[in-house]
Amino acid sequence: MTTNGNTTPEEGTLLWARPDGEGGAGSIEPLRAAVREFKLAVHCCGYAELPELIRTRRCELVGVEVGADAEAAAALIKRLHERLPALTIFAASDDPGVSLLRTLLEAGATDVLSLPLGSQELHKALIKFSQVRTKAGAAQAAGTVLTVVGVRGGLGATTLAVNLAARFHGTLEAETALVDLDLQRGDVAAFLNLTPVNSLAALANATGPVDEIFLAGTLTRHPSGLFLLPAPSEIEEADAIGHNEVEVALRLLRVQFRFIVVDTARTISGPSLAAFEQSDRILALTDLSVPGVRAARRIVELLDRLSIPRERVDLIVTHAIPGPVSLADAARAIGKEVFHVLPRDEQAAGGAMNAGSPLAAPREAGLATAIGELADKLAGRGATTKAKRGHLLQRMFTRETRP
Ligand SMILES: Nc1ncnc2c1ncn2[C@@H]1O[C@H](COP(=O)(O)OP(=O)(O)OP(=O)(O)O)[C@@H](O)[C@H]1O
Ligand SMILES: [Mg+2]
Repeated sequence: MTTNGNTTPEEGTLLWARPDGEGGAGSIEPLRAAVREFKLAVHCCGYAELPELIRTRRCELVGVEVGADAEAAAALIKRLHERLPALTIFAASDDPGVSLLRTLLEAGATDVLSLPLGSQELHKALIKFSQVRTKAGAAQAAGTVLTVVGVRGGLGATTLAVNLAARFHGTLEAETALVDLDLQRGDVAAFLNLTPVNSLAALANATGPVDEIFLAGTLTRHPSGLFLLPAPSEIEEADAIGHNEVEVALRLLRVQFRFIVVDTARTISGPSLAAFEQSDRILALTDLSVPGVRAARRIVELLDRLSIPRERVDLIVTHAIPGPVSLADAARAIGKEVFHVLPRDEQAAGGAMNAGSPLAAPREAGLATAIGELADKLAGRGATTKAKRGHLLQRMFTRETRP
């Protein structure tokens, strides 16, 4: 939910794109008035800015005004539709001709409106959009994406991601998926003792549409009911997976799952950036060593440069590796309050990793207890874990035994 400069809470943004260098046909006031009822804000931009804005604003609805160059509009719509099949795209044109209408619809426009915009026509299109949104499950509040990033290697990021997901799924009974974005060295499957058949690489090699059914085929189900979107088994497959594949995967997972926990690699690349952009919370895991604190500061600065609001970043400190910096000094140097502290617990962490199962029963002051408390904090106390989602997935995996 965004608060769009004023006090009205908006549930999303309608991005309205006009041809670069053209003024656009008339006022967008009717648009603003029409979308208010649907709890949407309107943001106007040029064609060139649109793809980047969709990425950072996470919007489900865009409008493309057709200018003098109708082909440019159709090409933009086609590109958006191919990349984000779930996106609703309104085209708007002052040419009522059937041939243009057909071109725009074939390119992937959901609806074609006439310019100048009329309130009745807009209203009708928005009602249709909100019905589709309800059906897609987004109206049940889309799932929460949490990305774990170790500010340097070996701090326990994967241990944290796996156990957070296990806690969300197990204790909070929320449909949860884990995504392994450590594409070259991903070990989440090993942590869970799974041998996946498919991976994120399938998205890169897809020849047809990448929709929720396709995505379901790339997931591996843990006997507990937790789902994993694994890293490729072959190292060389990693290169094919870029920003777009991860963005599409996370958007689709968001509709199916209440929580999506993403583990990332120690080096930051396109796929991790896509995850940061799509995340509701980014858990930056640091130790209290001097290099650790410096690395954490660099990550926070990178997220600033990506225009990711600092409120979305949670600083987690681990004592897995001892360090001399105090919590207060670390917070000051990094520019974030410490959200949660994890104890050093070699026995639990090592035991779980090698047993291929999430941490054993929590012991007092142990790692499992600390991660459990963190999961509860993240889910919000008395978390609304909501009605189960992922019906499609449950149907597709019914032949497997439930625990
Ligand atoms: N809180 C902890 N206390 C002690 N040891 C821990 C703790 N958390 C993780 N470990 C251990 O540290 C090692 C690295 O853990 P893990 O693989 O989770 O880290 P990572 O940050 O994902 O590493 P990488 O950068 O290689 O992906 C493992 O041996 C793990 O058991
Ligand atoms: Mg790891």
